[in-house]
Amino acid sequence: MQKLEVIGGKKISGTIVISGSKNATLPILASTILTNKKITINNIPVVRDVETMAELLKTIGSNVKFDRKKKKIEIYNKKPLKTFAPYYLLKTMRAGVLVLGALLAKYRIAKVSLPGGCAIGSRPIDLHLDALKKMGAKIKIKDGYVHASATKGLRGSNIKFSKISVGATENILIAACFASGESKLRNCAIEPEVEDLIIFLKKIGCKIKRIGKRSLNVLGTNKLKSTTHKVIFDRIEAGTYIIAAALTKGHLKIKNINPKIILTEIKLLNKMGVKITKKKDHIIVNRTESLKNINIVTKPYPGFPTDLQAQIMILMTKADGISTIQENIFENRFMHVSELRRMGAKIEIKGNKAKVFGKSKLNGAELMATDLRASVCLVLAGLIPSSKTIINRIYHLDRGYEKIEKKLLKCGAQIRRLR
Ligand code: UD1
Repeated sequence: MQKLEVIGGKKISGTIVISGSKNATLPILASTILTNKKITINNIPVVRDVETMAELLKTIGSNVKFDRKKKKIEIYNKKPLKTFAPYYLLKTMRAGVLVLGALLAKYRIAKVSLPGGCAIGSRPIDLHLDALKKMGAKIKIKDGYVHASATKGLRGSNIKFSKISVGATENILIAACFASGESKLRNCAIEPEVEDLIIFLKKIGCKIKRIGKRSLNVLGTNKLKSTTHKVIFDRIEAGTYIIAAALTKGHLKIKNINPKIILTEIKLLNKMGVKITKKKDHIIVNRTESLKNINIVTKPYPGFPTDLQAQIMILMTKADGISTIQENIFENRFMHVSELRRMGAKIEIKGNKAKVFGKSKLNGAELMATDLRASVCLVLAGLIPSSKTIINRIYHLDRGYEKIEKKLLKCGAQIRRLR
């Protein structure tokens, strides 16, 4: 089992180039099931979840060429695909369920494994399934699989999601693009990754119109085109490195981003005392003053992202006074707290609220990563003390962070992978 060793006390300064977004890449890849025209996708992050999605597409017969050096995937489906997505590929990556909408819309039948249990919460897929049923699908859950069929094809429908869900919005949007007739999707997620999927789908000929802040009108079509698309930057990776610089009083240029997409995070970090200069496609992070305490509530976009909650908690341990976090998206997303406490952080948890006491002295320790964002929060924590921190079970980290130790090493961190 691979581990990371971090010896902190060094400033994170220099330049970091942000990768393409994993969470945008995954639904875009799933949606290519709809078309048999040539698709080229650039700015692909070479991370394990993307490898798993590429593997899943290959398993169902998709012709996927992944050029890791050029960060490019080409897909050209000349033959019909299989409609079976097996458990062994969905157990490590929930986003695998995004192939369900596309398979069902295109082939009228699909057998897709229920995604594996996830540490951060129960994460059901009821919203996905209810919407597909409304579109005419018959759905049975048997032996851990979703068995779905729509013998006459999916039909356009009026769907109002009872809760804002990124995955359900993406899955149903993809399905609606190939269904017969018109769909109205309401209470949709408007995360930048959903927007990137919409841009991609429109490029291949899907007919999508925004008719309100969270409402979409989709007219199904089966006339799809070839296209080339560049995936949007990873805003969570960008936020993580802003925090790394802020934590260590570094001076960091963060490149290949659009600062307008992360204004909530920038404003909040400004409030804490982190100076961030915004340019067209990069930002410069500088922290010289002491950090102020802050209160955060995680919300769907444009609110503060749950995927950055664990990282900001580390910064709070260094601020003046008491900061608070209310986690509103996932019920079990404070698993990093017990590990941070082992380093000396003082954090109290009550339900979905955390109270973080500032000016904690953190010491190096041997730690266990529990999920993707919790893993990176432990890496950030390791950047603080000049003693050694060992992070075990880092396969979670490799699911979503491209070359993290190389990027940090180049900016002055003392970090290495122990095999
Ligand atoms: C996506 C992101 C993940 C991020 C999350 C919230 C990807 C691959 N992953 O996950 O990194 O943390 O959005 O921004 O893009 N829910 C239901 N029923 C459903 C679906 C969801 O109750 O059918 C609930 C979930 O349990 C959760 C909330 O809705 O409480 C939001 O989840 P959702 O937006 O669906 O998250 P994911 O798409 O799984």
